[in-house]
Amino acid sequence: MMQSGGTGRETWGSKLGFVLAAAGSAIGLGNIWRFPYVLGENGGFAFLIAYLACVVLVGLPIMGAELAIGRGSGRNPVGAFKALLPGSLWWVVGGVGLLTGVLILSYYSVLAGWTVFYLTQSATGEIIFPTLAGDIVTALTFASTGLHIQFAQHMTESLFTGFVTNSPLVLLFHFIFMILCLLVVSQGVEKGIERYSKILMPTLLGLLFLLIIRSVTLPGSFDGLVFLFKPDFSKLSLDVILLAMGQAFYSLSLGMGVMITYGSYLDRKTNLFASGATVAGLDVGIALLAGVVIFPAVFAVGLEPSSGPGLTYIVLPAVFGKLPAGSLLATLFFLLLTIAAVTSAISLLEVMVSFATDEWKWKRRRATIIMAIVAFVIGVPSAMSFGDWSNATIFGLGFFDLADFLSANILLPVGGILIALFAGWAWGSEKVKAEIRDGNPELKLFPVWIWMVRILAPIAVLIVLMTNII
Ligand code: PHE
Repeated sequence: MMQSGGTGRETWGSKLGFVLAAAGSAIGLGNIWRFPYVLGENGGFAFLIAYLACVVLVGLPIMGAELAIGRGSGRNPVGAFKALLPGSLWWVVGGVGLLTGVLILSYYSVLAGWTVFYLTQSATGEIIFPTLAGDIVTALTFASTGLHIQFAQHMTESLFTGFVTNSPLVLLFHFIFMILCLLVVSQGVEKGIERYSKILMPTLLGLLFLLIIRSVTLPGSFDGLVFLFKPDFSKLSLDVILLAMGQAFYSLSLGMGVMITYGSYLDRKTNLFASGATVAGLDVGIALLAGVVIFPAVFAVGLEPSSGPGLTYIVLPAVFGKLPAGSLLATLFFLLLTIAAVTSAISLLEVMVSFATDEWKWKRRRATIIMAIVAFVIGVPSAMSFGDWSNATIFGLGFFDLADFLSANILLPVGGILIALFAGWAWGSEKVKAEIRDGNPELKLFPVWIWMVRILAPIAVLIVLMTNII
């Protein structure tokens, strides 16, 4: 174990372990479930350029700021601001980040629970060949028109609706997923989060490559790549730019303190800019590759890419049903999704746990159990929002969609602006410089970075937010 400063705080066992854990946090349902359809629907290559601009101009600088704040303080997000600027009110930024994290974990675990359910079902072939009584007539109608694949999709849609409206079952899988996260986080940073990330992230990569090869070798798959990447600059409205920015924050796990917390376990030899850039590069790369798995397969079987959850849980099962060895492919895909979800959700739980262990001096085990219960309970309305509580809406959105929208498009960007301003102005330029210098003695890119966190990133985020609110 690499020790930092003899504070007794846990540290990552190796640099690779940290990078894999941080990439594990970044690479999640956001990459595989959200990014591909947002990209396809909002102008393909044109959206990609807007997204990459957000990652480079806003995401990377804030990633550096969070890692520096974390390592510099050796604390959770609330304690970090308190330690670096005692007596100020900056800790509120960490507090809001913590609450944002709880909110994200609460609905993330619901969505991840669906994924675990689909994993259990795909292994048995259940989701791709659902047998639903009462659908015979529809079956005959579709069969007579030769629309077999549409029929398959009709069946997977019934299965999906049947599942998400079954609140007890959704709650059960929300619970099971939270237990999985609890088991990892309760074992600690090096022996839990890092150890599992080192096994799970390479597995995820392997699965992804297997699925890519299958997908792009299907006849007719090229149309999917066209859909994904065809540039349509007419779609680039301000709304779409907000979407790109929200996606960048969400996907890189920025703006609420995951990277502060993970940074707090770093040794002083790590180059913060270089490892932050590696994490961001892996994140963007895997999001693109996920698109390359999904769309070619969808087009190859002649289906339309739909948006949102429907793509993953309705269209893809129908696609798998059409392919040879479909249940094996479905199993691999939902395993990939489950792995991505676990390594992200544990980072959210770790933020809460590090807060309770640092600030309230709780033992890790106790902190993990209680925080997992809190996130589970807060997730209940999201779990029910597709079923029994589907009529309860705020601003026209159910709990689940509201939690998703609020966190990605408002809370994370606002948190990001404040984190950048703290690192750029409030903390003190000599102190930030000294922090970055450890592991990066020549301070490469520091002069560029400091102006990005001081001016460029906060203003860019503010403009995008304001133009959407007004
Ligand atoms: N980055 C994760 C994803 O893409 C989600 C996440 C957001 C995790 C914020 C932690 C913090 O799915």
